[in-house]
Amino acid sequence: MPLAEPVSDVDIERIVAQRVVPALSAQGFCWLDGVLGDVTGGAVLEQVRRMHLSGALKGGQLMRAAPGVKRSAVRGDRIAWVCGAERGCDAINALLVVIDKLVMSAARTLDRPISHRSKAMVACYPGGGAGYVKHVDNPNSDGRCLTCIYYLNKDWNTKEHGGLLRIFPEGKPYVCDIEPLFDRLLLFWSDRRNPHEVQPSYATRYAITAWYFDSEERAEAKRRCRERSDSENSNSSE
Ligand code: OGA
Repeated sequence: MPLAEPVSDVDIERIVAQRVVPALSAQGFCWLDGVLGDVTGGAVLEQVRRMHLSGALKGGQLMRAAPGVKRSAVRGDRIAWVCGAERGCDAINALLVVIDKLVMSAARTLDRPISHRSKAMVACYPGGGAGYVKHVDNPNSDGRCLTCIYYLNKDWNTKEHGGLLRIFPEGKPYVCDIEPLFDRLLLFWSDRRNPHEVQPSYATRYAITAWYFDSEERAEAKRRCRERSDSENSNSSE
C-alpha cells in the first residue's frame, strides 16, 4: 500500500495503525513501498549519488573488529553520516522528517519510550560482490531499538544484482528476504530478534539507515559505560 504523495500526517497515522504497528508486534519487522513518491524519492537518490561521486562515502570502522579480520570481509559498504542540515541534503532531510513521524507515531501506540535517533547513515555497496555478514545491530542493549532503512535502487533485478537483505527472525524456522527497491522503507527491531545479512551485491546499491533509541535503555547503557570508565580510571591510578 503506497503512501500518498505528499504524505500527510493523517496518512502517516493511518499507515502506522494499519500496517506498521501490527507487523512490528506480530513479526518484528515491516516494510512500506512508495514512501516518498518518485519526485522526492528521486531527489534523495540524486543527493546520495552526488555524495558517492564526490568521494564523501568512506569505509567506516567495525564496532568489534577481531584481530586480523579485514573490514571488507565483514562489510563491503562505504558510508557517510549526515544530520540532514548539510548543504545538498534537503531531500534526505525531508525523508528523515517522514521517518521521524512514522516512528514517533508507532512508538506512541506501542508505548515505547523512543525519544531520538542517530544521524542518518548513507551507505553504498559498490557492487563486485560487496555485502555484510550476518549480524545483530544491537546485541548488547546499547539503546538502539528500531532500525529504519530506506532503499534507493531503481530497476533492481535481484537475480542479476543480488543484494537481498535477509532477516533470520529469532527462533523461527524461516527467513525473510527483502529486495532493496527504490522508495521502500524497512523497519525492524534492532535487538537479537532480527539477525540479518546483506547478500553479495553485483551492482551499486544505495540505502539510508537511521537507528531510533529507547531512552531508558540508552540511559542505562550510558550509565554502564560511565561506571566502566570510572573503574578503569581508578584501577589505572592504583
Ligand atoms: C547495516 C545493514 C542492511 C541493508 O548497515 O547494518 O545491515 O539492507 N544494512 O543495507
